[in-house]
Parts: sequence; C-alpha cells; structure tokens
Amino acid sequence: MNEITVTIIDREGKNHMLIAPTDMSMNIMEVCRSYELPVKGECGGMAMCATCQCYLESDTALPQQSDDELDMLDQAFFVEESSRLGCQIQITEEIDGIVLRLAPEE
Ligand code: FES
Repeated sequence: MNEITVTIIDREGKNHMLIAPTDMSMNIMEVCRSYELPVKGECGGMAMCATCQCYLESDTALPQQSDDELDMLDQAFFVEESSRLGCQIQITEEIDGIVLRLAPEE
C-alpha cells in the first residue's frame, strides 16, 4: 500500500478526504496544496511561517515535534494544544486516517 487517507476539515467546516502517497516524501502542507486547499505554505515547509498550521482532530500518534516547530508555534496566532505545522507531518503509513482541521488565517 503506497497510499493513505487524510481528512482535512477546511475553514468553512467542510471535510475533504484526500489520498496521499507514502512514497514521495510529501508532507501534509504539500498534499493540501496539491488538492488546492487554502494552505499557503509560504516558507516552503521550513517551519518558519505557520501558514500551514492545523489542529489534530484524530488520536493519531505523531512523532515528537521538533524544536523548530515548537518555536514557530510559540510565535503563531490561534495556537491550541493540538496545533501542528502541516509541513512537519510527513505522509507515512502510520498516520493513515489522520484528521486535521485548518487553523484560521492570520
Ligand atoms: S509551510 Fe511554513 S511553517 Fe509550514
């Protein structure tokens, strides 16, 4: 299996079921952009802009956040306990079925 299912809840509350490849080193921000969801990804995935911020809505176990991600979230708006940077979530089999909600835009 080289594909997983990712559910993204957009800022209007609409669910989008996306199919994401696990063998292309993609992250959540890139998958959202490839489906033309409103995720800017301004820094290109360097954990430096927070325009890819989303909230984890499923009980998916994610790898620990890096210091760079935590530093960026420290400076971002609308941060919640479940906040993550989409560009720091790699598409792997382990996150199949993950549900993420897009954070508001600043
Ligand atoms: S794309 Fe900039 S922090 Fe994720």
